[in-house]
Amino acid sequence: MNTLASQDTELSITPRFCGFSATIEGLNLSASLSSQSIQQIQNYWLDYPVLVITKQNISDLDQVKFAKNFGDLEIHPSVAHRSTKTPEIYRVSNVDENNQIMEAKSTAWQYLELTWLWHTDSSFREIPSLGSILHGIEIPPTGGDTLFADMTKAFDALPKPEQERISTLNVFHSHDYIVSQSKALSSRENKGQYESLPRVKHPLVRRHPVTKKQSLFLSPHTMESIVELKEQEGRVLLDDLIHHATQHQFVYRHKWKVDDVLMWDNRCTMHAVLPYDSINHRRVMHRTTVIGDSVPKA
Ligand code: OGA
Ligand code: MN
Repeated sequence: MNTLASQDTELSITPRFCGFSATIEGLNLSASLSSQSIQQIQNYWLDYPVLVITKQNISDLDQVKFAKNFGDLEIHPSVAHRSTKTPEIYRVSNVDENNQIMEAKSTAWQYLELTWLWHTDSSFREIPSLGSILHGIEIPPTGGDTLFADMTKAFDALPKPEQERISTLNVFHSHDYIVSQSKALSSRENKGQYESLPRVKHPLVRRHPVTKKQSLFLSPHTMESIVELKEQEGRVLLDDLIHHATQHQFVYRHKWKVDDVLMWDNRCTMHAVLPYDSINHRRVMHRTTVIGDSVPKA
């Protein structure tokens, strides 16, 4: 395979998990891509919301350039996790910019552990992210796999009357709620430095703007409450739906290899990292986040 000029290379797709994730072959993300290749990737991404591209030894700048083919990029609200050199890079990493494992239990370290909870990226924004692109740079020897839940299939599997009932509901999401999910973080004075963002309201069931498929829109780490229900009733419903959507038949588990690049569509998926020994083992992942195209609609 010619790895130097990927625009001249045929791309191909190999499904991995139930029409949900797939590997693209024939790409070199450090080369410029032709518009046909970008279009082809975009089409694959609609068919398979989690795409895997292996063996991509790319720089942060290559990653940013690749991600910009799909839209403008977000700058993450957590100052400690942004790359100082390349602010579009969100460092999902227990290693700081001085290349040291972060002090255990430090605020930045604790915040990172919150990626171990199920969530959808940027659900705290009025227009949540369209998709995320993550480069695996250092992988721990055990643990640290990423789970992805197929929220379209999870919605489709609900009984019709339940689908209809929940399609009328809305959820309050907030970034502050993420911090409240960590006992350690919420009880300390220094909760980290974040840009403040107002609470937002999103439908519980959203329709994908391109495929038009309906899916559950859950993001447990930002979901405060259901707007139309009493607090306790809303909590029970959300917990039931989270439990439903994360059953194994809806979940692809990615075991990382160095230089895997994953891209996932945040408009119909949710994800979580499996715990690993973040005191002793390094895990370095760099994320670029494509800004969403529209407010989520029921
Ligand atoms: C993310 C995230 C996944 C991972 O980048 O959005 O939640 O595998 N991390 O680190
Ligand atoms: Mn995430």
